[in-house]
Amino acid sequence: MKTTAFDQRLEGRYDELKWLYCELYQNDLEAFQGFVEMLRRSWGQRKRPLRAQDARREADPDWYRHRELLGMMLYVDAFAGDLAGVRGKLDYIRECGVNYLHLMPLLQSPKGRSDGGYAVSDFRAVQPELGTMEDLERLADACRRLQISLCLDFVMNHTSEEHEWAKKARAGEPGYRERYFFYDSWDVPREFEQTVPQVFPTTAPGSFTQLEDGQIVMTSFYPYQWDLNYANPAVFHDMTENLLYLANRGIDVIRLDAVPYIWKQLGTSCRNLPQVHSLVRMLRMACEIVCPGVLLLGEVVMEPAKVAPYFGTTEKPECHMLYNVTTMATTWHTLATGDVSLLKRQLEAVCALPKDFLFLNYLRCHDDIGWGLDYPWLREQFGTDEVAHKRYLNDWFTGRFPGSDSRGELYNDDPRLGDARLCGTTASLCGVEAAELEGDPFKLERAAACDLTLHAWMLSQSGIPVIYSGDEVGRFNDYAYHDDPDKREDSRYLHRGRFQWELAERRNDPDTLQGKLFQGLRRLERIRAGEPCFDGDADVWVEDSGDARVLALCRRKGERELFCLFNFSGEFVRAGVGRGGAYTELMYGTHYDSIRCVDLWPNGFAWLLRE
Ligand code: GLC
Repeated sequence: MKTTAFDQRLEGRYDELKWLYCELYQNDLEAFQGFVEMLRRSWGQRKRPLRAQDARREADPDWYRHRELLGMMLYVDAFAGDLAGVRGKLDYIRECGVNYLHLMPLLQSPKGRSDGGYAVSDFRAVQPELGTMEDLERLADACRRLQISLCLDFVMNHTSEEHEWAKKARAGEPGYRERYFFYDSWDVPREFEQTVPQVFPTTAPGSFTQLEDGQIVMTSFYPYQWDLNYANPAVFHDMTENLLYLANRGIDVIRLDAVPYIWKQLGTSCRNLPQVHSLVRMLRMACEIVCPGVLLLGEVVMEPAKVAPYFGTTEKPECHMLYNVTTMATTWHTLATGDVSLLKRQLEAVCALPKDFLFLNYLRCHDDIGWGLDYPWLREQFGTDEVAHKRYLNDWFTGRFPGSDSRGELYNDDPRLGDARLCGTTASLCGVEAAELEGDPFKLERAAACDLTLHAWMLSQSGIPVIYSGDEVGRFNDYAYHDDPDKREDSRYLHRGRFQWELAERRNDPDTLQGKLFQGLRRLERIRAGEPCFDGDADVWVEDSGDARVLALCRRKGERELFCLFNFSGEFVRAGVGRGGAYTELMYGTHYDSIRCVDLWPNGFAWLLRE
């Protein structure tokens, strides 16, 4: 028999795959054979253009590391009604310079009990309002022709209570209860609750749900999201096959949703257990064997020490990309405090990581901002108290703090714990919404500058910048969810509103707020795409700007050196420019013959290229 690409790729990974599998599943060799057959079957179903793309990407393994990469995430319905609508709007996506598009969950999910699509009832069917699987494939084909990579969530920790497996489990059909965590009494659940922190303490307290018939099932997130039991090989097989099914529809990037949670063990926090890494490593190998052009993006919203291990090692890689979540949260902290010390420290930590760790950088996404900051350090440096500081940040970003024009809303505000998180769009959090409502042109200018500076900051970091749809035209909060009984309790809908095309219409008019933001952002992106200093393998370090309000980031590639300054305060400041010398500011094209410092506008920034 002729050896295929599949055989070759399998051969190189067979021993490790088998070893990991057998370790996790008690040497069940028969099950392992079944797993390998499933991989072969999935490969057999991979269509020709995708296989051709796999080959191209295998020959250029750094294809997703270019500095031209620019992401955007959006909700299909909010953006364009349905999948066909998105296909019709690809021109706009291209105009935004976007070549990596993350579509928020779009698979079948029960109305009103869907957690924004994160409770999937069928991994092989599209939500009917959004279209069909064929529509998704058509969109993926169109994106591929335009060289836009498509990312889709793979909600793997749980299924909806309406998923076929859940229904069968509820009905007592043999083999299905074992796919979840079922209990007849509260004894074990109570023991779990001793050590497992809550995800949604106010909107969905506890980690278990009692069904009408008295049975108890594990539900770490919402009560209608039943946790899958990956200790059962049938779950791992079927979910891997579902993942590969999506990859075979033409999805380029699979976002492993809530991945740290997928292995549960009594007496632990049920987060980041070693078995999670074995599972992710096996998924990585499964993709490398079946669809090597497909990437894994891990959703690990954890402190930095927990995030980096999801990259795995050079010999045994796990995820291709991870979110730079702590930098995001620290950025907002920095804006509220006007003091860059913590951000500087955070960056030093990021800069110390291997350069091939690829992060997705973002300011806002569909979720809340959790205040996961380095509190021990803040306490040591400033005597900061964690609860008081979270209250300060929340007061600041909800506009309750004097002088703040921010317009956010709290998320999961548990008065007992005092650790509410925060929602809102970038523009509203930067004060643009309040300034526009007040009709104050000076405030508006400053708030818009702040919005643009934060984007410049995001683009200055190594990795893939991802815009949250609407931010490119300064979208405000959408308060309509307050009147929707299905959404009212979940303030994340504040920043998941309808895309306002009427605002986007103004994007080419520089006299409008939308035009200023859109054109400003485009200019930044073009500079980034054209400037080698933004390469992922550039040397990056933080410097002392001489002013606690200003962050100084340096990027060097070969002979080229870029000095980036960001004023996180609402005041005019003068900041030092490293070694001094002749510079050109790239955004405005200003040339400086010989400078040691530069003046920055309130919430302004400068990208200075050394000559
Ligand atoms: C992820 C998603 C979030 C969702 C949760 C449960 O954290 O980002 O929106 O609520 O998973 O699936």
